[in-house]
Amino acid sequence: MQWTSLNDLREKYLAFFESKGHIRLPSYPLVPINDKSLLLINSGMAPMKKFFTGEEIPPRNRVTTCQKCIRTPDLERVGHTARHGTFFEMLGNFSFGDYFKDQAIPWAWEFLTETLEIPKDLLWPSIYENDEEAYEIWVNKVGVDPAHVVRLGKADNFWEHGSGPCGPCSEIYFDRGIKYGCGSPDCKPGCDCDRFMEIWNNVFSQFNNDGNGNYTELAQKNIDTGMGLERLACVMQGVDNMFEVDTIRKVIDNVCAISGKTYGANANNDISIRVITDHSRSAMFMIADGVIPSNEGRGYVLRRIIRRACRHGKLLGIDHPFLVETVTTSIGESKGAYPELEEKKDYILKVISMEEERFDATVDAGLSILSDLINAALSDHSDVISGEDVFKLYDTYGFPIDLTREIAEESHLKIDEETFNALMKAQKQRAREARANI
Ligand code: ALA
Repeated sequence: MQWTSLNDLREKYLAFFESKGHIRLPSYPLVPINDKSLLLINSGMAPMKKFFTGEEIPPRNRVTTCQKCIRTPDLERVGHTARHGTFFEMLGNFSFGDYFKDQAIPWAWEFLTETLEIPKDLLWPSIYENDEEAYEIWVNKVGVDPAHVVRLGKADNFWEHGSGPCGPCSEIYFDRGIKYGCGSPDCKPGCDCDRFMEIWNNVFSQFNNDGNGNYTELAQKNIDTGMGLERLACVMQGVDNMFEVDTIRKVIDNVCAISGKTYGANANNDISIRVITDHSRSAMFMIADGVIPSNEGRGYVLRRIIRRACRHGKLLGIDHPFLVETVTTSIGESKGAYPELEEKKDYILKVISMEEERFDATVDAGLSILSDLINAALSDHSDVISGEDVFKLYDTYGFPIDLTREIAEESHLKIDEETFNALMKAQKQRAREARANI
């Protein structure tokens, strides 16, 4: 297997599935269309749910995409580990009532072992508990050593994300080697350690979940696959984590050049460098797809992301607005696949710089007040910051509550969320009344 750039891997994957009769569609926007169940698109299949259920007719019953995705449940973890990120690209091939397991599985194997030439003995398929059909295909049709096929339960091998099409799945793990392992004799795919990395998920979408755990059989059998492009790039570039992948590393290097810091030299600085890198990427893509910073919904997610990045810039000692620079670098790395980034470049940079400047005007004062509050709480042996103070930081200094919470947690303090929420509610009520009186 040969070192391959992230941009080339994307192209190889899409071209491979085109050669298998799929139509290549551009990524759908991050903002879901006619789907209130999601704030932001979080998987390759999410924008195509209605093709799976048969409610809408796809342009072809075989589709391949590389989908922009954002997942934010672990936002606070981003930076602290090299595993977490908010933005990623998901490669996928989809069958809407066309081919099923017996073609999806061999194609996945062909792409990994022939196109990318990943050694077969480093790959481990998993199947859902008693999915004998998938087992047969892996062992008899593809010829994988039965000792390399693991059976996993619902938590690992039944894919669903809230409501919508779902089903049992068969994943493919890459063995990163003993040095990443936990040493347990039972270590195998599904183990919590870092040795076996899941790279590809083939979901056999046969059911619809109504959102309350009630499953009904879909009229057609579908294939929904998902392979994280950054993870695949880690494998093909022989690097530890996505921050080391070529296109993302460029942004890391840019943050280092701006801050004068060296990545890998200091654990705290590394956290900040990763936060800025990841958040520059997600903010850029969100703005390109029409999200603007606000205090609600996806606009709030964007605001949190930009302000969190600004604060980490301060921690690195950067004393001027800088996100325009890191976002420009990131646009340069991704515009080939996402021409909207180049087309909307001026607009993206304007939104970024307005939000950064707005926060920049108050962030120093807010941070110094928060630091006084933290010191006062610590010297009083209190473990909580008052809701009134958190509200003032929000209202006067533009600190999203999540940012205040995160900074307080760094000193093992909680915040009084109940009082904060009551004050927020009262403020919204006052605003409604004021509007009604106009
Ligand atoms: N929808 C599946 C996933 O996101 C493929 O893992």
